[in-house]
Amino acid sequence: MSAERILHPVLRDRVVTAEAAAAHIQAGETVAMSGFTGSGYPKAVPPALARRIEAAHLNGDPFQIRLMTGASTAPELDGALAKAGGIALRMPFQTDPDARQRINAGTLDYIDIHLSHVAQHVWFGFYGEIDTAVVEVSGVREDGTLIPSTSVGNNKTWLDLAKKVIIEVNDWQPEGLDGMHDVYYGTALPPNRKPIPLLHTDDRIGQTSLRCDLDKVVAVVRTNGPDRNSPFAAADENSERIAEHLIEFLTHEVAKGRLPANLLPLQSGVGNIPNAVLARLASSGFRDLTAYTEVIQDGMLDLLRSGVLKVASCTGFALSPEANEEFKRNIAFYRERIVMRTQEISNHPELVRRLGCIGMNGMIEADLYGNVNSTHVMGSRIMNGIGGSGDFARNAFLSIFLSPSTAKNASISSIVPMVSHVDHTEHDVSIVVTEQGLADLRGLPPRHRARQMIDHCVHPDYRPQLEDYFDRALRDSYGKHTPHLLPEALSWHQRWLDTGSMRYPS
Ligand code: COA
Repeated sequence: MSAERILHPVLRDRVVTAEAAAAHIQAGETVAMSGFTGSGYPKAVPPALARRIEAAHLNGDPFQIRLMTGASTAPELDGALAKAGGIALRMPFQTDPDARQRINAGTLDYIDIHLSHVAQHVWFGFYGEIDTAVVEVSGVREDGTLIPSTSVGNNKTWLDLAKKVIIEVNDWQPEGLDGMHDVYYGTALPPNRKPIPLLHTDDRIGQTSLRCDLDKVVAVVRTNGPDRNSPFAAADENSERIAEHLIEFLTHEVAKGRLPANLLPLQSGVGNIPNAVLARLASSGFRDLTAYTEVIQDGMLDLLRSGVLKVASCTGFALSPEANEEFKRNIAFYRERIVMRTQEISNHPELVRRLGCIGMNGMIEADLYGNVNSTHVMGSRIMNGIGGSGDFARNAFLSIFLSPSTAKNASISSIVPMVSHVDHTEHDVSIVVTEQGLADLRGLPPRHRARQMIDHCVHPDYRPQLEDYFDRALRDSYGKHTPHLLPEALSWHQRWLDTGSMRYPS
């Protein structure tokens, strides 16, 4: 490992092992860690802490922490701590299967809030004090400021508010990241807030490194490990068709004059379908696009390289190993075109609305009126969390939700009479796309929205049942504004539970 990454002598003198660093964290602490969608999370201290927790449990000593991050991390962090039984409370977004299993078993408390809310709620004092921050960086400058790594997330807030700070300096992260970040220090608490001076996706309004009171730094750990970097599944037929419907719609909106020729800033969730949409955009003839989003995945790097995308603003990456290698090789190119921000800015409602983002997110299910469930299977079992989808859905110029029309090998319909849990209300959803087609819900009253959903999004196997439900609801519903038959509306979910379609490992 090169020593030059730590250019401040005080921090160079604080380098210790991961075990020694983890020893600074005590049972019952609130610990705030870096990390966003598997990038920029600490790689060494969390596993060392997990080992310490396991040892304490073997001695019969209770040892748990309250854990906060930017968003999802990786097996070394969420997985190791969850397996050790070391997390009492987790917030916000997470995707780890071990943590999910404990959350759904009721043994791990989980608070799922909008990603743009996390920093400000902590500043408001809603979560008490932060005892320790554990933050990965890619380097330390001579002036003691910290060069972020592949995610910024809530790191500014963690470093500002934590009583103790542990820094991981990861040599695996490219040094060329220096200059890609834009950390805005102008946020204040109400009633002293001012407008955020960001007018274009690529505006730089802050500084390229993070401040940190060096007196609070109790340990520095050297690491050399990769981000999670999961490979992406190849786009399947459904994803391709969803992408096709969406691109056709965007082209139509440009022709109608409702969108400029280079669209508006794109926000895209991560996963198979958003990747297929990005791939389609590459060959669709659009040019000079921009992205104001949370996460950059493989498809966005491709678009930047081909010149279809001019610039992208984000707070983290989710890259396959191949894309990561390419990113590192051409980092000077990407540094000119990517701006990495704190998640309170990448997801800020004021900015999402000002820029007029086109929000594109996945979902578990939608109902006839366009209410969307992004998080809960059968209304009670959490999958991941709301992430940033709500920050964009409520405030975007267009709020688009994408999903195959069926799930679990076509044994259940993703379009249902009434969603079993609501993350995005009908008031926040303008477009729903499945492989069957696109429902344009804009400007429509509820009964017309239902017609759009049935005609365009429902799988043919389920269309007669939904037609029948809607016809009877139109006739027999207590109110005719948003016709429903209660409790039949939710009986669909119960039926799937009863038939075992929804069996999950415990
Ligand atoms: N009923 C029951 N289960 C369903 C379902 C439905 N209608 N739709 C999907 N699922 C299940 C799938 O079967 C799969 O389960 P498995 O892991 O046991 O196989 C799981 O949900 C994920 O679905 P998948 O088809 O793989 O889609 P995805 O990877 O696109 O994820 C969400 C879909 C909704 C889970 C995902 O988009 C998400 O977490 N969204 C919330 C956060 C968000 O939108 N962030 C955006 C900003 S980055």
